[in-house]
Amino acid sequence: MHHFRFDQDELYCEKVPLRRLADQVGTPCYVYSHATLNHHFRVFDEAFSNVPHLTCFAMKANSNLAILNLFGSLGGGVDIVSGGELYRARKAGIPADRIVYSGVGKTIQEIDYALKENILMFNIESDLELEAINQRAGELGTRARIALRVNPDVDPKTHPYISTGLKKNKFGIDIEGALRSYARAMELEHVEVLGVDCHIGSQLTDISPFVDALKRLRILIERLEAMGIPVKYLDLGGGLGIVYDQESPPHPHEYADAILRELEGLSCTLIFEPGRVIVGNAGILLTRVLYTKKSASKDFVIVDAGMNDLLRPSLYGSYHQILPVVKSDREIQVVDVVGPICESGDFLARERGLPMVLPGDCLAVMSAGAYGFTMSSNYNSRPRSSEVLVKDDHYFVVRKRETQEDLVRGEWIPTL
Ligand code: LLP
Repeated sequence: MHHFRFDQDELYCEKVPLRRLADQVGTPCYVYSHATLNHHFRVFDEAFSNVPHLTCFAMKANSNLAILNLFGSLGGGVDIVSGGELYRARKAGIPADRIVYSGVGKTIQEIDYALKENILMFNIESDLELEAINQRAGELGTRARIALRVNPDVDPKTHPYISTGLKKNKFGIDIEGALRSYARAMELEHVEVLGVDCHIGSQLTDISPFVDALKRLRILIERLEAMGIPVKYLDLGGGLGIVYDQESPPHPHEYADAILRELEGLSCTLIFEPGRVIVGNAGILLTRVLYTKKSASKDFVIVDAGMNDLLRPSLYGSYHQILPVVKSDREIQVVDVVGPICESGDFLARERGLPMVLPGDCLAVMSAGAYGFTMSSNYNSRPRSSEVLVKDDHYFVVRKRETQEDLVRGEWIPTL
């Protein structure tokens, strides 16, 4: 469910016509729907309302302060993976006791920062990281609350770049090694073991890998408890998929039912780290057609957004629906929608049927709210786009378009 809809011939975000937004704010521009964000967060969170839980939005999917602030106001926390994300989360008003910290490569500076902020929990991904966190906590005269991220070796059946819970992936500690690492953690003076963490991959459209992972975790939890190691928190990560094209992912309620069934009898607080399922379909990328051109074998639509703005099609071959923001009855043509970047891999869609477009027409690249702006770059010295939050018939520019001055900030020419 989202709030990008046609009324007559015009595509709206809530009550704001996208054509007007493009004229007033310029393109390319990310546009988010407040009502959709609000709805998606609540649906996910309420699916677990019968059990103690915390929904920690995976802010790598979308880290705009306005969006984080909204989730915080709904009682949410965040899953962070860097000091930069911690900084943003705190700026957005997320309380430290609702922050969990994942990632295989936390630096000493980042660990110290998170310890000083007194976050809820570090999700530790290796034995050496465990030692480092214990050492830093000792140095700073504090105790780090931790979970170990366990790699359950299940196949999430998703794109290989975004599957994380297989033995061959760099993430987590394998389930056999985990008992040893837990035993070691219990010996350490400056860490407090809070529980178990796991995240198996992203854009999962099938529920069975989640259930398989959980079955393995339950066995581990029982063994930990037998060893006298308390499991107060169970962090099940994120990964629930969304509809980009023809997928049929489970609804958050189905996901919750399957998980809760598997957890019967356990009394820990659950943590979830959903990213895409909350924001993916709550945002679009608005772009304008610059030129059209025909080559001997193809028709191209050249738009003002490129792979630096939305990397997913180039990097993963991902599908994003593309809609003209004003409907027309022009003839359908099969085109490649490409950006201005000097790479053949710079495309938003390939061999796509679109009604004929003309220079100046605006297009909406749908389902771009997750891993859209956050993966954008300045490649080809292109300023990053603006971000706009629409609420009802109002809109707010929640991130200004970068300027050319922003592009060279921090650089200098030394006298050699
Ligand atoms: N927790 C951890 C530890 C993660 O690594 C991730 C995503 C999540 C939670 C959130 O997963 P989600 O609910 O969004 O599926 N750039 C890729 C996706 C990379 C996902 C990385 N980790 C894409 O555009 O598809």
